[in-house]
Amino acid sequence: MVSRRHPPGLYVLFFTELWERYSFYSMMAILSLYMNEALQFDVAHVGRVYGAYTAGVYFLPLFGGLLADRVLGFNRAVIAGGVLMMLGHLVLGVESLPFFYAGLVLLACGSGLLKPNVSTLVGNLYRDRPELRDQGFNIFYMGINLGAFISPLTVSWLRTHYGWGPAFMSAAGAMVISLLVFIVFNRHVADAAVKVEENSVEARALSPEEARSRVLTLVAVFAISMVFWLAFYQIFYTFTFWARDNTLTTIPPERFQVFEPLGVILLSPVLVAVWRWLQRRNAEPSTPVKMLLGVVLVAIAFGMLAYAGMTGGDAGRVSAQWLIWANVIIALGEISLSPMGLSLVNMLAPPRNRGLLMGGWFASLATGGYLAGYIGGYWDRMPHSRFFLMVTLILIATAVPLSLMTLQIKRTIARSQTVPVGQ
Ligand code: PHE
Repeated sequence: MVSRRHPPGLYVLFFTELWERYSFYSMMAILSLYMNEALQFDVAHVGRVYGAYTAGVYFLPLFGGLLADRVLGFNRAVIAGGVLMMLGHLVLGVESLPFFYAGLVLLACGSGLLKPNVSTLVGNLYRDRPELRDQGFNIFYMGINLGAFISPLTVSWLRTHYGWGPAFMSAAGAMVISLLVFIVFNRHVADAAVKVEENSVEARALSPEEARSRVLTLVAVFAISMVFWLAFYQIFYTFTFWARDNTLTTIPPERFQVFEPLGVILLSPVLVAVWRWLQRRNAEPSTPVKMLLGVVLVAIAFGMLAYAGMTGGDAGRVSAQWLIWANVIIALGEISLSPMGLSLVNMLAPPRNRGLLMGGWFASLATGGYLAGYIGGYWDRMPHSRFFLMVTLILIATAVPLSLMTLQIKRTIARSQTVPVGQ
């Protein structure tokens, strides 16, 4: 019984990350609106800044991980990251352009230091009970989505009652909670924060050709993931403008952002149960097929929105149900694809390059986020239905090579399972 229990450190990291994600998603919720309405940026300019910021947030973990490894250690990296984020929220809340950009830089640097290292710590908690690690990450992912779910509600209330500044600044309070949890209960993550040398048994067992083929497989997975996030990151950008301008609703547009994380929280256990049920019947889809499903689901969500545009949403307003259900379907897509990507990196990355390839996974999010901002620049240069259709086609164009590659990915996974696995 005792061995099935999760380490208490998991809950420390759960709440540290919950409040960090709360602050991240609270500012993401109103960022595009703020740029458009308060700073008077046009939609394409909003996209350039939004894309650059999202790219920064997910490229910087590459350096955040390195800094923790080489200089700071995990604890100091997480604390420094948290402090930078807290300052970033305060600076962002000063409603003027130089402060706006300075705030974004602080936030991206802070989250680049905090996020990858908290995730690594979660993995490290399970060094002596790897069989519980996936479940641990699932619980941790719930924390992420709880933060993402609560924040649009509170931030939209603050924005509509007190204005942009207090809404942005409120997240500094969330970062104080995040830091306090991490510092006060730090003894529970002390062991996980100690670096151990990579297990070299696996490294020796791996031929250079095999290592190369695994890295190539992962690069292909990253390309697919990039397109997925290109579509996903419309949620905090063009979807907000669609909610504001083209849906029949009186609620603040950013409040629609609750449906995706809520979908993740409610549907994750359902999907896990479905996979288990299929597994018992020997019919569980393979990892690449699950990723393919993720891409196809998001294509369906965008196809639905294209239809909603054609049937009235391009020029006028349509029922808010379209947007709500599109978000729920995207949530299903996220839980089919995102954990699979992470577990593939864990499974396939040659031990010597594991850190770098984890950074590669984050970089696929960064590039997807950047392209989301770039492509969103077309939002008001064509009918909305054509924009949604364009994203649908990009997703389908990705699904085709992915479906051709599933066999190759499956083979690489199968080979990786015949050598001793490190960690
Ligand atoms: N919703 C996830 C989060 O904010 C998105 C994500 C997945 C980010 C994987 C990084 C890595 O954490």
